[in-house]
Amino acid sequence: MHDHNHVAVIDFGSQYTQLIVRRVRELGYFAMLYALEDFPNIGKPGAIILSGGPKSTSEVDAPDLDFEALKGFGVPVLGVCYGMQLLNLKFGGTVEKSDRREYGPANLFPVDDCKLYEGISAVSQVWMSHSDTVKIIPDGARVIASNQDGTPVSLQWDELFYGIQFHPEVTHSHEGLNILKNFLSHAATLAPFKIDDFKREMIDNIRTTVGDKQVVCGVSGGVDSTVLAVLLKEAGVKVRAIFVDNGLLRKGESEVVQANFKRMGVEIETVDASERFLNALAGEGDPEKKRKIIGNMFIDVFWDAVGDAEMLAQGTLYPDVIESASNAKSKASVIKTHHNRVAKILELQAEGKVLEPLAELFKDEVRALGRSLGIEEDILQRHPFPGPGLSVRCPGVVDKERLDIIRECDAIFIGKLKEHGWYDKVWQAYAGLIPVKTVGVKGDERSYEWATNLRAVISEDAMTADWVELPYVILRETSHRILNEVKGINRVLYDVSTKPPASIEWE
Ligand code: XMP
Repeated sequence: MHDHNHVAVIDFGSQYTQLIVRRVRELGYFAMLYALEDFPNIGKPGAIILSGGPKSTSEVDAPDLDFEALKGFGVPVLGVCYGMQLLNLKFGGTVEKSDRREYGPANLFPVDDCKLYEGISAVSQVWMSHSDTVKIIPDGARVIASNQDGTPVSLQWDELFYGIQFHPEVTHSHEGLNILKNFLSHAATLAPFKIDDFKREMIDNIRTTVGDKQVVCGVSGGVDSTVLAVLLKEAGVKVRAIFVDNGLLRKGESEVVQANFKRMGVEIETVDASERFLNALAGEGDPEKKRKIIGNMFIDVFWDAVGDAEMLAQGTLYPDVIESASNAKSKASVIKTHHNRVAKILELQAEGKVLEPLAELFKDEVRALGRSLGIEEDILQRHPFPGPGLSVRCPGVVDKERLDIIRECDAIFIGKLKEHGWYDKVWQAYAGLIPVKTVGVKGDERSYEWATNLRAVISEDAMTADWVELPYVILRETSHRILNEVKGINRVLYDVSTKPPASIEWE
């Protein structure tokens, strides 16, 4: 896709960079994020956005790029925060280093006659997160917006070069999306992004890369691997789709997945490896060790089933790519090991045996692609389910008894959400186990049993999440059924934790 006319977002390290890409795509244009060192390979973009970043332009190792090359593209450029400061220096101005950080909402006062602010309110809330500010503004440049103190927070240096000190990509910048839209409207050659065109290109790429080799893919029943398998089938390449039952699945999951694939005309091979997984996990209570056991076991089981494969296809998405790239570059601490990134897969990747056709798409785009491939809505709208399955919803040691309890509670909760029309309104929901015994009364007997936690969140790509204010009736009916029907549970809790600081899963 790189030769397409797209929006190139150059990453100077801001925590919001990925959001810029998302917003541009929401506006209907294709955007890609590039590490600064990849600047020479951005193809032929129709517009360029320089992101914010944590450094100061005055630092010795401040990130920099080839300004002549940037001008050479002849397309509109928007510098955001650090990007704006860098552009001001390049055009001959200065930046003032500050010890104080401005963080939070501010008021933006745009000038009347600037295209970047066409249709934007006379006073508009924007979100700031910076310490340095532009000081001397070079000849020929003009201030196109100031903040409440009269400080310049947006500049235009010439016909094509714009800068903004605030972050238009976060929702706290109320008209940020419109400002981005105004900027992109200058990009005369920018082609709107259509998922159907993308699909055709992906299919061509798959055919060229795969040829008559056989591609193996793992399917989990989730949206990504399902879309992947159907895409491969559509491309007409030789596919083997393998479904591993790791014993950590939800109630009836194996049957549902098999029925769904049958509906879509994709043949799958089911491998029941529950015992192998549960034996390997026996007695292990450490979250990271459990994840590693599951990840490695998955690879073993999967490759035992596959034998010699010529190629492996994975449903990796763009946020995973960005996250692992930035983790690799920043050496950021690994919060959780995601199971499609364990060492064995990386080895295969190094041998060029891994195909990741969805790696440039966000989740909502994968759904759109699925729709374009004719996959039915109930499959596309399934909640995400983690690779390590119910293991991450059962803190500490996992065994069949605990898993069966979770399965029962979860089926009741999800059933109630569907019954009340709330399943599609939440991003992800589940019931988990809190393996702590508390005292209660069941019938005339004293009970001493575990608790279940219900969790329902809304989110955009799982980076942050908020708990959902479910109607009490759903909680009441769910709790009633669980307490009456699930042996081993005498307490039902609703998790009201946001991410951060909590995560969506419990491990
Ligand atoms: P957390 O718990 O990190 O979860 O807030 C974010 C999203 O990722 C899913 N998740 C995983 N998916 N392998 C996966 O394939 C994993 O190891 C894993 N851990 C969490 C989780 O369900 C949520 O949607």
